[in-house]
Amino acid sequence: MKVPLVVTAEELRRALAKPRDGAGVGLVPTMGALHAGHASLLELARGENGFVVCSVFVNPTQFGPHEDLSRYPRPIEKDLEVCARHGVDLVFAPTPEVMYPPGFAAFVEVTGLQDVLEGASRPGHFRGVATVVLKLLNLVGPDRAYFGQKDAQQVAVIRRLVRDLNVPVELRVGPTVRERDGLALSSRNVYLDASRRAQAPVLSRALQAGRARIEGGERDPAAVRRAMAETVATAPDAVLDYAAVVDADTFAVPGRLAGDVLLLLAARLGPTRLIDNLAVSLGERGQ
Ligand code: PAJ
Repeated sequence: MKVPLVVTAEELRRALAKPRDGAGVGLVPTMGALHAGHASLLELARGENGFVVCSVFVNPTQFGPHEDLSRYPRPIEKDLEVCARHGVDLVFAPTPEVMYPPGFAAFVEVTGLQDVLEGASRPGHFRGVATVVLKLLNLVGPDRAYFGQKDAQQVAVIRRLVRDLNVPVELRVGPTVRERDGLALSSRNVYLDASRRAQAPVLSRALQAGRARIEGGERDPAAVRRAMAETVATAPDAVLDYAAVVDADTFAVPGRLAGDVLLLLAARLGPTRLIDNLAVSLGERGQ
């Protein structure tokens, strides 16, 4: 069975009109090049909703001027097959002109959160993400929207967006899907040559090294950051962008580790930039 694909807001409205049967509409926003990480979100959505929409849109406003917008993979036929296999009811794949018509001028910002870590390395990135996600939520009007923990800061930005602007949607977050060697699945992994692919699991190993330090009693975030950075440095081609330990809700750097913390890493392997993160819970008093 082929999944119906719509491109314009008008087509989307018509295709959405019938299936609102009380079981709910789930939206899984993606930029396509779908892999098992995306598929896990489609499955989650399939299990919780009567109607599942997958959006496929390589959003130009979240790419920096020197980033990979033009070479980002766009295998739409393959994506449609993945959607069919996972029971998606409708694919919304708008063109840039549909999303950003001439004269487009309204952007959403999540101040503070948008400026640290990924936001510091990629200025304007989260403004583009927040804007397109709000547009997709407004266009589809889902009961639930699905995002991956793989992009932890994106989840935090969208949570704040939905809370602060009273967007009537329930956010659902799926766990990071990994290759057998620990590498988090990403549409950008296809850019890695064989040598860099072999080095790429160093990110997840570094996160585990950070967690091991915490489990060993370390409560100084700087020491945990150092342990992560040292592990990343064992890969000859890896250039660390940031190693961070933050409060899982606020993304603030704690003086001493306690509660729910997130270990976050970004590194370049040649031209490819990879990110990964790991949640660690220390309990109420940092025990
Ligand atoms: P994209 O990178 O295509 O990811 C779409 C969704 O899949 C995101 O919520 C992302 O966190 C999730 N995802 C990616 N890799 C994953 C993995 N290995 N395990 C679990 N989930 C994974 O993120 C975006 O697109 C865009 O920023 C978007 C939200 C669509 C806005 O343009």
